[in-house]
Amino acid sequence: MNYVGIIGYGHMGSMLVRGFLASGVLCIDEVVVASKSQRSRDACAAAWPGIGIAATNRELARRCRTIIIAVRPQEMRSVLCEIFPVMDGDEHIVSLAAGIGLEDLEAAFTGSVTRVVPTATSTVGRGTTLVCHGRQIGMNDALRVEGLFSSIGDVMLVEEEDLPPATLLSSCGPGLLAAIIEELAGATARASGLPKDQAVLLATDMVTATAAYLRETGEAPGDLIEEVATGGGVTEVGVEKFRERLPAVFDEAFAAMLERYGAVGK
Ligand SMILES: NC(=O)c1ccc[n+]([C@@H]2O[C@H](COP(=O)([O-])OP(=O)(O)OC[C@H]3O[C@@H](n4cnc5c(N)ncnc54)[C@H](OP(=O)(O)O)[C@@H]3O)[C@@H](O)[C@H]2O)c1
Repeated sequence: MNYVGIIGYGHMGSMLVRGFLASGVLCIDEVVVASKSQRSRDACAAAWPGIGIAATNRELARRCRTIIIAVRPQEMRSVLCEIFPVMDGDEHIVSLAAGIGLEDLEAAFTGSVTRVVPTATSTVGRGTTLVCHGRQIGMNDALRVEGLFSSIGDVMLVEEEDLPPATLLSSCGPGLLAAIIEELAGATARASGLPKDQAVLLATDMVTATAAYLRETGEAPGDLIEEVATGGGVTEVGVEKFRERLPAVFDEAFAAMLERYGAVGK
C-alpha cells in the first residue's frame, strides 16, 4: 500500500492529518505520523485511534512512499539527513518548508520532490495550497499529491520563482487580512459605542460576504468600489483616504516580508 507519512505533528501536520482523514481522501490505516516529542505522538494517537505512529522519522521513511515533511525550515536538514539513508529513491518527498528550494532537495535526493504551501485557513477546507513540483516528478505522484491537498481547499500549481510572492498572498494573507479586520473593527469601536467584539464580528462577516460577492458575480474589486463608493458619498471619502496611504503601506509590508522570506531556512 502507498502509505502517506507526515513528519511533524504541529499546527500544519495536525491540520493535514485532520483534513485528509475528515475529507475521506485517506483512510486511517493509510497514514503514518512521526513527531519529535512523545507528547505529540501520543496526542496524535489519542485523536486518531488506529493511525500509524512511527517512533522515529527513519521508521516512517521505511514504511511510507509519500513523505510529507511539516517541520520548521531550520529542522528540515536534520530530518532529511535522518531519513535519506533508508530511502531508495522511489519515494516522493513533499516539503512544506519555506526557504528550502527544489534544487536543495534534488541535490540530496534523486526521487520525486514537491514543495507545497498550505494555509492556516485549510483548517476549514478553504484557501489555496500552492504546489510546485520538482523535475523528476511523474504524473502519478503529481496527481496524488494534488489530490491530497485538494481535499483541504483549492490547489494552484506555481513556478518556484513565483512561490515567495504567492506565499505572501495565500499563506501569510490570512494573518494580514486578520490584521486589517482588527483595524476596521478598532476604528469602528473607537468612533462609536459599539463593543470591540461586536465590531470584530461585523467586520469578519462583511469580509466573508464581500469575498463571496466578488467570487459569485465575477466582478473585479474596482467594479465593486465604483458601485459602493458613489460620487460625493460616504464610502468615496474612505476609499480616497485608503488610496492616499495604503499603496505605500502595502508595498513596504511586502518588501519587508519578501526580505524575511529570503532569510528563512538560511
Ligand atoms: N503555520 C502556517 O500557517 C504555515 C503555512 C504554510 C507552511 N508552513 C510551513 O509548515 C512547516 C510547519 O509549520 P508549523 O506551523 O506546523 O510548525 P510547528 O507548529 O512548530 O510544528 C512543527 C512540528 O515539527 C516537529 N518537529 C520538529 N523537529 C522535528 C524532528 N527532528 N523530527 C520530527 N518532528 C519534528 C515538532 O514536533 P514536536 O511537537 O513533537 O516537538 C512540531 O510538531 C514549516 O516549515 C512552515 O514554514 C506553515
